[in-house]
Amino acid sequence: MADRYLIAGGQIISGSGSRTADILIDNGRIEKIGEDLADMTARRIDASGKLIFPGFIDAHTHFDLEVSDTVTADDFESGTKAAIAGGTTCIIDFATQYKKEALSEALATWHKKADGVCSSDYAFHMAISDWNENTAEEIKEMFAGGVTSFKLYMTYDIRVSDGVIYDILKKMKAVGGIVGVHCENNDLINRLAGEQKSAGDYSPAAHPKSRPACAEAEAIHRLLTIARVVDVPVMIVHLSSEEGYEEVRRARERGQKVYTETCPQYLILDESRYQLEDFEGAKYVCSPPLRSRQDKECLWQAVRDGQIDTISTDHCSFTMAQKKMGIKDFTKIPNGMPGVGNRPQLIYTYGVLEDRMTVSQMCRLLSENPAKLYGMYPRKGCIAEGSDADIVIWNPDYRRTITAEGQLYRTDYNPYEGIKVRGMAERVFLRGMPVAEKGEVTKPNTGCYIKREKGIRI
Ligand code: URP
Ligand code: ZN
Ligand code: ZN
Repeated sequence: MADRYLIAGGQIISGSGSRTADILIDNGRIEKIGEDLADMTARRIDASGKLIFPGFIDAHTHFDLEVSDTVTADDFESGTKAAIAGGTTCIIDFATQYKKEALSEALATWHKKADGVCSSDYAFHMAISDWNENTAEEIKEMFAGGVTSFKLYMTYDIRVSDGVIYDILKKMKAVGGIVGVHCENNDLINRLAGEQKSAGDYSPAAHPKSRPACAEAEAIHRLLTIARVVDVPVMIVHLSSEEGYEEVRRARERGQKVYTETCPQYLILDESRYQLEDFEGAKYVCSPPLRSRQDKECLWQAVRDGQIDTISTDHCSFTMAQKKMGIKDFTKIPNGMPGVGNRPQLIYTYGVLEDRMTVSQMCRLLSENPAKLYGMYPRKGCIAEGSDADIVIWNPDYRRTITAEGQLYRTDYNPYEGIKVRGMAERVFLRGMPVAEKGEVTKPNTGCYIKREKGIRI
């Protein structure tokens, strides 16, 4: 059982403001918040000068995932260690149904991968690839198992057709679930990739050329057309481009409810990385690809305007040896990059300190909104009496340069190498337990599976 702690004098951040107060933690929960709380039985932690965030939630990770004839470098053990060390107290990973599989089998497989080895709390979205009468029947069972959000791909081998998207959205409308969709036009991508190869370009530089922003925008438009007919909200995951955002903006103007997620890589990095020599561009091969500076600026403006709902990482990591599976053909480079441990520092540095968002917005994008949308609020996503004591004591003055050395990922590179960041999760509490300090995990493997309720519409 967790001890009693009194976190004293920190500036408690919420999605709507902040206040300086003390937090009394008991039995894994926040018992009391107030000024000058006195409790002789609690261990006192002086947090003056520190920001106190609700534990960050990363609603988009891929740990222990088989892709492109290999498996991600990070599994749930290493991935959640990196998460908690950086202040992310809960991740939502994508359990994935492969063809001919039941959703219950996929969920059991993901529990087997994650149960007992996680250092942050964890939950699962369910990626559906084989929709039929049985799958439809299983949605009830998914809800009972705490899975209330689903993922569809419009590209890759596990993509679903427009008709299936329609059927699944209808089901979601009936049951109150939410679907996140990877939007890219699969056929167009395949044709363009083929043309790059016919023209003799097999290098990472051909990757973004085969996946232009219009391929994302077209798929978003198609998805939003289907969602409009069904009349149900949807989530666009890892939004990367201005063209894509314009589709969202137009749909919202028509009165549609559309949620958007973007990721640090689309806000901070850009497509110039694909021009790096010696196969270095492969480090940044992810889908959708990194975009232009103009796309980045558009996404930041959307963040400023409150038009982006969540920032997640899409952590999907591979070593350079794995990336080299595509040394002779860019379409064989496993897609994805790490980020789960870096997100809070990156967003604090580029977002808050560069006046693109307030600390309250950071709280909403990294904690409160994912908790609400994915059915964990107010248990998680806020610092409130009765909530899980998932707490990040944030030192705003800390400075470091990101490097792969000593990182908790199992990759041999960090896509943000050399970037100077500020702020640090100095102490992290998970359900009342101190589990990480100054980037080190002090108490591993204490993560619990979080059964989620239906999400709240924000
Ligand atoms: O390149 C990426 N993003 N890989 C992870 C799978 C996905 O598309 O989300
Ligand atoms: Zn995706
Ligand atoms: Zn993803």
